Amino acid sequence: MLRVTVLGTGYVGLVSGVCLSELGHRVICADKDKEKIKTLQQAKLPIHEDGLLCLLKKNVSANRLSFSSNIEASIHDSDIIIIAVGTPLDADGNCTLEYVNDCAAKIAMHASKDVVVVVKSTVPVGTCDRIQNYLDETSHFNCVVASNPEFLREGNAVHDFMNPDRIVIGTDGRAKDCMLRLYGSYAMKGVSFIYADRRTAELIKYASNTFLAMKVAFINEISDLSQRAGCDMQKLIEGIGSDKRIGPAFLKPGPGFGGSCFPKDVKALINISDALGVEIPLIRNVLHTNVMRQHHIAKAIKSKLHDGDVLAVLGLTYKAHTDDVRESPAAAILRLLINDCPSITIKAFDPCGMRNAEKILPSKHVTYCGDAYEACTGASVAVILTEWECFKEINPALLKSVMKHPRIYDCRGIIDREKFSKAGFHVRAIGYKAKEPAAIS
Ligand code: UGA
Repeated sequence: MLRVTVLGTGYVGLVSGVCLSELGHRVICADKDKEKIKTLQQAKLPIHEDGLLCLLKKNVSANRLSFSSNIEASIHDSDIIIIAVGTPLDADGNCTLEYVNDCAAKIAMHASKDVVVVVKSTVPVGTCDRIQNYLDETSHFNCVVASNPEFLREGNAVHDFMNPDRIVIGTDGRAKDCMLRLYGSYAMKGVSFIYADRRTAELIKYASNTFLAMKVAFINEISDLSQRAGCDMQKLIEGIGSDKRIGPAFLKPGPGFGGSCFPKDVKALINISDALGVEIPLIRNVLHTNVMRQHHIAKAIKSKLHDGDVLAVLGLTYKAHTDDVRESPAAAILRLLINDCPSITIKAFDPCGMRNAEKILPSKHVTYCGDAYEACTGASVAVILTEWECFKEINPALLKSVMKHPRIYDCRGIIDREKFSKAGFHVRAIGYKAKEPAAIS
């Protein structure tokens, strides 16, 4: 059992802290945000994450997990301090390291013995080396810095933490034993441990997210091509993804990637390359493709609407199983429509994300509804932008009865197209066969 302090209770910090207590460590999750800590102390979650609350309650009861807004006291006496604070991009697209630096300063000031400092925040290459130098110069104790990027997907984060594909540890060698104790149960399960130097571990995180984003951008381009050529997208995905060298994951076409990680990490990687004077045109285009996709979808929706029409939007979060709307393709598409078509009315429904959506898309522009049918009432077009299960269960006949025109545009390819067509809908779905393939000259 190790005494672990996690600084930062966002998605990464909170999930890591709770799961590490589940692995048997004694964990304090600390955050300077007093409200958040109060919420957690009342056994409530500030975020939506499946399975997290249950583990939190279990480990608080077992006295392995606690929450504190007293950073100084939380750091005191820890064996391992995990930095898991945010690194938002600034106006120039560079990672803000203000919060990470603040943690390092607090550790230098308040650590009461030798300690391993684990950086889980996604940070530019070289950051951990810099923190090591800083702590060497300022702390009275031996502070050893390790980079330990996380690969948790929002909505699946608890499962991903408890069942990792691999553990990446960037260290100069000194933190190895302690990290092995932290993740000892994984070593016993046979999970592979990848030891590297700190800079390489930092780059592994950016490269992994950028590769996945590139896969999504790639399949989105292929889906447009497939549609125009009259091909079967399902078979295409099966055919491509069955090649073990490619794999089936991240080959679902949609309205583009979003969230707090992919867009930010691809941008940060471009900036890191610029700073190093390295050309990365392929990666640069991943972002461009993604932005173009949202313009393309907004244009396609707009072409079906007339002044005074109602547009129904089903789904606002950047993917299902989260309440997160940061960099959501749905929000980007809605912003374009709000700007370009001021005379239409937008009605929206999302099972989890409306509270957050309202903060970025105020209700003077979007009417938030209680369910999909309410959002579609009187609408000329319904567009599905997030792959929520509940949208797969929509009853086409009932939906048709409330809409002005039975037209549905499924940007996630989740509905039963035949069922909707049979019910009299004009169906358009991203990637899926148009009735007449375009002529190839
Ligand atoms: C991503 C990575 O998957 C995690 O490994 C990483 O730890 C995390 O970022 C992070 O850096 O913290 P996340 O942002 O939660 O996780 O979301 P993903 O499930 O990866 O999806 C990202 C975006 O790609 C979403 O907008 C999703 O809709 C889109 N996507 C994903 C597709 O359009 N098609 C796919 O086939 C897969």
